[in-house]
Amino acid sequence: MGKQVTTKEFQAPVANDSLNRAVGVEQHLSPVLHDLIALAINTKQAHWHVRGANFMGVHEFLDQVVTHAQDAGDEVAERVVALGLPVDGRVGAVAKRTSTPEMSPGFQQSMTTVAEVVAQLDATIATVNAAIEGLDDIDPVSQDIVIAIAQQLDKDRWFLFSHYAE
Ligand SMILES: [Fe+2]
Repeated sequence: MGKQVTTKEFQAPVANDSLNRAVGVEQHLSPVLHDLIALAINTKQAHWHVRGANFMGVHEFLDQVVTHAQDAGDEVAERVVALGLPVDGRVGAVAKRTSTPEMSPGFQQSMTTVAEVVAQLDATIATVNAAIEGLDDIDPVSQDIVIAIAQQLDKDRWFLFSHYAE
């Protein structure tokens, strides 16, 4: 018969190994979360202010990028929380820590909008790729989550970049 797990053991604080893993995961996933939240907010801004060529296609596709960023951010935040640590998704923390560049205010012609959102994606993809590398020895499950996010971001970047690629 296997060892009986007592209630006390079951409720005990996480073991050191688990704590180390959680801390490592949080360190690599928090920058990804901040970029994904900023990406969602800034792409919504782009969705509202795009004008000109291919308006409807760009306007509608940008909303898909917003949804992808929101869903990905939710996955990342919940992975950290599932391991027992908090995240900081407050607007102040995101504004301070995101690596995404500043967007132009007001209405933009669609090619400017697309180029600016590609720049948002490039910054986010760089952060995600750093997390993929950093999580290699720490937690394959978290690494798997960011790999899936990278695949979606790369695809969204392709869809946007193709508007002005030669
Ligand atoms: Fe809308």
